Amino acid sequence: MLAEHTNSRGIERDPYTAWRARERNPNARVDATDFFLWAADTDERFDCAAGNPPFIRSQRFKGSSKAAARSICEAEGVTLSGLSSAWVAFLIATSSLLKLGGRMAFVVPAEIGHAPYATALIEYLLGSFSKVQVVAVREKIFPRISEDCWLLYCEGRGGRTHQVHFSTLDSFMECPWPPTDTEVISWAYLRKNWRGRLRPLLIPPGARRAYLEAAAHSDATRFGDFAKIGIGYITGDNDFFHLSRSQIAEHQVPDELLVPTVRRGANLVCNVIDQTALEVWDAEDQPCHLLCIPTGTEMPLTVLRYLESDAGQRARAAYKCRVRPVWYSVPGVTIPDYFLQYMSGSEVHLSANAAGAACTNSIHAVRITDVERAQRALPLWSSVLTKLSCELEGHPLGGGMLKLEPREAQRILFQPYCYDWEVIREARQVLMRWRHQTDFTNPTAS
Ligand SMILES: C[S@@+](CC[C@H](N)C(=O)[O-])C[C@H]1O[C@@H](n2cnc3c(N)ncnc32)[C@H](O)[C@@H]1O
Repeated sequence: MLAEHTNSRGIERDPYTAWRARERNPNARVDATDFFLWAADTDERFDCAAGNPPFIRSQRFKGSSKAAARSICEAEGVTLSGLSSAWVAFLIATSSLLKLGGRMAFVVPAEIGHAPYATALIEYLLGSFSKVQVVAVREKIFPRISEDCWLLYCEGRGGRTHQVHFSTLDSFMECPWPPTDTEVISWAYLRKNWRGRLRPLLIPPGARRAYLEAAAHSDATRFGDFAKIGIGYITGDNDFFHLSRSQIAEHQVPDELLVPTVRRGANLVCNVIDQTALEVWDAEDQPCHLLCIPTGTEMPLTVLRYLESDAGQRARAAYKCRVRPVWYSVPGVTIPDYFLQYMSGSEVHLSANAAGAACTNSIHAVRITDVERAQRALPLWSSVLTKLSCELEGHPLGGGMLKLEPREAQRILFQPYCYDWEVIREARQVLMRWRHQTDFTNPTAS
C-alpha cells in the first residue's frame, strides 16, 4: 500500500518489516513503532489511511499497547469488549487520525460479518463516516492464512449514515474504486432482524425475506424456546478421565464410578446414541467411559491406585484439575436429552441420548424444557429451513467448518410451513459455499 503512494507514512512495529517497507518506497516515512502508542501521542492527521491490521485475539493483545488502544477507543466513544480482537481497535484508532472528510480502507477478517463485538464497530463507523462499505470476498485473499478476509471502505470522516453498503466478490481483483454494485441496507433492519450481523446479506434478498417470514409465522419456534443448550463437562485431562473397556479391566474400575460418554462431535453420526452405539465403541475399545467420582465417594483400592499412578500425578497437575476442590471429581457431568454438534462439516448433527450418556465440552448438551413443543419441532431437524437456520445463526470456523455457540444454537429456527423451499435450499448452499463447504449432502431435505 505504501509503495503505491508517493507521499505516504507508515507505522509498523516489526523493524524488519518496516525496513522492507522503506525499501519498497524510499519516499515513505516509516516508523518502526507500536501503532497505538504512536497514535495516542501524534499530532499528525491524514486525508486517507489504509491498513492490513493483525488479527490478534483479545487474550494475546495486552500491555501498554492495549491500554493505549483502549483509551483511544474510549475517547472515540467505544468501549472495547473484553472479547474484541485487536483489529477493531486498529480501525477506530486510524479513524481518529483522519481529517474531516477523510477516508480509510482496511483488510478485515470475515468475522466482521458475525462476531458479536463487530456490531459496536459498525455502529461507530456509521456515526463517524458518511459512507460505510463492506466488501465480502469469497475466495481467500491470502490463501496461506486460515482466516477469510473481507474489505472495508469508509469515506466522509465527520459525517454519519444509517446505511451499510454491502457488496460481494467471488475473488479479489485490483480496482481503482470499491465495487459499485452494492446493496444498501438500513442499520435498523440489520439490528432488528439479524442482530447487526452482515453475514445474512450473503444470501439473496428473496431468501432473507422468506426466512424472516417463516420466523414470524405463529408456528415458528426457536431451539431456545423449548430447550437449554450448554456445553458438556471439562475434565482437565481427557486421556486420564476417559477409559476404554480394556483400561477399565486393567485398573479394575467398578461400573458405579463410570458414566458412558460422547467425546467428539464426530461420534454423532446417527440420530440416536443408544446401547448399540456404545457397544460398537466398546468393541473398538474406544475410551468412551468417564471416570466419575463424586466428592466424598468411597473408592476401592484399585481406583485409589489409578489416582496415584503416573498418569494420575500428571492429571492432578493440569490447570483445570488443580483449581477444583477435589481434583478427580469432574464437575458438571449431566445426562442431556440430546447431543448437538458444536463444530460441523456439511450437516449439523443432533442425536437423541438413549444411552444415558454424558458429553464433553466438544459437544452441546441439550436439555428439553418443553416436551410438547420439542415433539412438534424436532422432527423438523432435517428440514432445509432448519439447515439454513444453522448456517445463518452459526458462523464459519475455517476449513469448511460451521460453529454453533450455545447462544447461536438457541436461535435455530423450526417452522413446518415455508412456501419457497427452492429459494431456501439455494440460500443454504450459498452460505455453505461462503464457508468453503461444497459437500451438499442430502439435497432432497425439505
Ligand atoms: C497482517 S500484517 C500486514 C503487513 C503489511 N502491512 C502488509 O499489508 O502486507 C500485520 C502487521 O501489523 C504489524 N503489527 C502488529 N501489531 C502492531 C502494532 N501494535 N503496531 C504496529 N504494527 C503492528 C505486524 O508486525 C504485521 O507486520
